[in-house]
Amino acid sequence: IELYLGALGGVLPAHPFDHADLETRALAALPPELRTYVAGGAGDEATQRANVAAFQRYAVVPRMLRASAERDLSVELFGRTLASPLLLAPVGVVGICTPDQHGDVHAAEVAAATGVPLIGSTLMSDPLEDVAAATGEAGKWFQLYTPKNRDLAASLVQRAEKAGYEAIVITLDTWVPGWRPRDLASGNFPQLRAKALANYTSDPVFQQMTGPNPDPGTVVMTWVGTFGHPVTWEDLPWLRSLTDLPIVLKGICHPDDARRALDEGADGIYCSNHGGRQANGGGAALDWLPDIVTAVDGRAPVVFDSGVRTGADVVKALALGADAVAIGRPYVYGLALGGVPGAVHQVRALQAEADLIMAVDGYSTLADLGPDALRRVP
Ligand code: FNR
Repeated sequence: IELYLGALGGVLPAHPFDHADLETRALAALPPELRTYVAGGAGDEATQRANVAAFQRYAVVPRMLRASAERDLSVELFGRTLASPLLLAPVGVVGICTPDQHGDVHAAEVAAATGVPLIGSTLMSDPLEDVAAATGEAGKWFQLYTPKNRDLAASLVQRAEKAGYEAIVITLDTWVPGWRPRDLASGNFPQLRAKALANYTSDPVFQQMTGPNPDPGTVVMTWVGTFGHPVTWEDLPWLRSLTDLPIVLKGICHPDDARRALDEGADGIYCSNHGGRQANGGGAALDWLPDIVTAVDGRAPVVFDSGVRTGADVVKALALGADAVAIGRPYVYGLALGGVPGAVHQVRALQAEADLIMAVDGYSTLADLGPDALRRVP
């Protein structure tokens, strides 16, 4: 209503609504050396495209004569009630996607303004404490890239716990870099710059590893040396011992992995293929979701991301059983193009579209949005 009335009054929104338009304008606004990193994916990007296309194979079934003027999209996750089932996915290097290089703090400000929790990446370009402070009353989870150095892992997790993060998300699919031809061809690796690594350089264990006043090359090579521990089942008890916070495993796409993860102490399952950035040749993440939901069988929350671009996509992922849906590139593009207001606009647009679809199609609560709300279409 706010937007319709504004438009009637001649005030057109400053930010795009359409994802393709958003992407084109955001990439033009980003410095060239960041474009391939943010937009690109693994291989010929077939998996990245499949992530987006998969949503078109489902249709939301309209149900009439049962609409409600009030919708309730709230969800409870790890003791916190969220007004909408959205999360901001962890995005490393988002810090350097805004001109002042504090994009991580700005992502936290987007969380504060919208109430949508931020999952902060280990690869933040600001100390995790600063990012936590900027989230205000909003929720925050910390995403761990498990370092080879166990003391560093423990330090990162303990700092996150102390700073008020409410869950630890352990990403499983990124202990080696993805094969990303766009990055390889352009030679741009923004994560390999000392200024992208401020969360590490503010860590006491990392500081011991580099020695005092390290030059940028030492910072980057120390990071390269510790990045990339392939987390296995054998590591889970150790990771579990580091924190009492809920542990969510990100990158789970197979039902057996989901089941075993819960048996071995995980508190949440995050179905994702990293937005198609890590391994090409796989299916759309959405195609793995229903079996994951069946395997989890209500024992723990299921978070989904990869390819969500519209409010309709959000509704479809929820109807397939996700408890919460995360977005990556849409908010990064919003930040790159329009700063905090630009990203807030993207989040609110997704919320508004999802809410209106539920209104028109007769699904007033998330509990109404079961598998019957969808049909597979050719
Ligand atoms: C990511 N992603 C990611 N994931 C993670 O666990 N830690 C990280 O540091 C990053 N870094 C990162 C950088 C960039 C530029 C992008 C686009 C993505 C993956 C992210 O959390 C999420 O899984 C995907 O972005 C979801 O796909 P969409 O929404 O971008 O299609």
